[in-house]
Amino acid sequence: MELSIKEHFPLKKHNTFGVEAYAKQYVEIHSEEALIRLFTEYQAVTRQPILVLGGGSNMLFTKDFDGLVIHIHIPGIRHTVTGNAALVTAGAGVVWNKLVWYCVDHRFAGIENLALIPGTVGAAPIQNIGAYGVELKDVFVNCRVFDTQRGEITTFDKEACRFSYRESYFKREAKGRYIITEVTLQLSLEPEINTSYGAISSELQKRGIIDPTIADIATVVSSIRTDKLPDPSTIGNSGSFFKNPIVPVEHLRQLQSSFPDRDFVFYPAGPDHVKIAAGWLIEQCGWKGKRVGDAGTWKNQALVLVNHKNASGPAIYELSEQIIADVRSQFGITLEREVNIL
Ligand code: EPU
Repeated sequence: MELSIKEHFPLKKHNTFGVEAYAKQYVEIHSEEALIRLFTEYQAVTRQPILVLGGGSNMLFTKDFDGLVIHIHIPGIRHTVTGNAALVTAGAGVVWNKLVWYCVDHRFAGIENLALIPGTVGAAPIQNIGAYGVELKDVFVNCRVFDTQRGEITTFDKEACRFSYRESYFKREAKGRYIITEVTLQLSLEPEINTSYGAISSELQKRGIIDPTIADIATVVSSIRTDKLPDPSTIGNSGSFFKNPIVPVEHLRQLQSSFPDRDFVFYPAGPDHVKIAAGWLIEQCGWKGKRVGDAGTWKNQALVLVNHKNASGPAIYELSEQIIADVRSQFGITLEREVNIL
């Protein structure tokens, strides 16, 4: 198939914030072969900056991209079963939630808690997606990647990906070098239902479900997400905009004595640290549901920044700066963005 490279391409429909931005050039890639050809026949000559886009669900454009946007559309899901283990491999362009339901329908357990996370399979390892007590790394086996420096396909196992909370080797040290083409997960035919997250157990109880299947979990998680988070097809957003900050226990103790009337929301994070709910910190600073023009924070979840209609990328970024400054001056904690800024 010919590579169809488009000029001055609008990205508004390719980022879930729905902000205006243009790519100098844009190409859709449907196979590893096409990706290799793109680099050997085209990029080797033009040598422009590249930006890889999947669902555009974790990206805030604050300007146009003066280079080639590569939109990964590699399709396909396949699996093999050995005993109670299922190895499931999906193309990087598969919509993540479609993979979740493929697994649920085949009774392969392990990613049902990750239902309805926006984005594609290829983006999942980059920030080690996670929700409701489960992270991608819990089921990850390996991924195939195209190495843009060496011009070849290679495989990364779990250790090589160096996963941690919303982080990986691809997002940090190797930023921009590798393009994920395929991901393999190991799932189980013997489900270990994870209802550790309070919201799941209370929703199951409400529905009178005592012995949930993985389909019940995926359904309940989808419903919790739909209630709490804005739907990017109607209100632009990128899920959690910031990470939950991890601070020394000592810092939390000091805050608790400075603010004795506030009920800090936190979770253990290793022996000497705690993870504080960033949404709670932002709400305490009075930002929940606030708007500055068309940029704002979501009324049910202050950690989610939203584009009510026509906010620009810079306006959303500016709002995030104000929030960081307020949280820092009140609590001495510097929030880190989870979303990639361009
Ligand atoms: N909270 C508030 N006010 C708010 C928001 C939250 O007080 O406006 C407090 C509440 O006490 C709530 C607690 O913070 O119980 C935690 O909130 P929530 O359960 O919504 O989880 P989160 O820590 O804000 C994380 C992930 C989400 C994931 C949920 C559920 C991060 C950065 N975010 O959010 O992931 O869906 O847990 O597991 O870790 C994403 O990464 O885009 C994302 C949506």
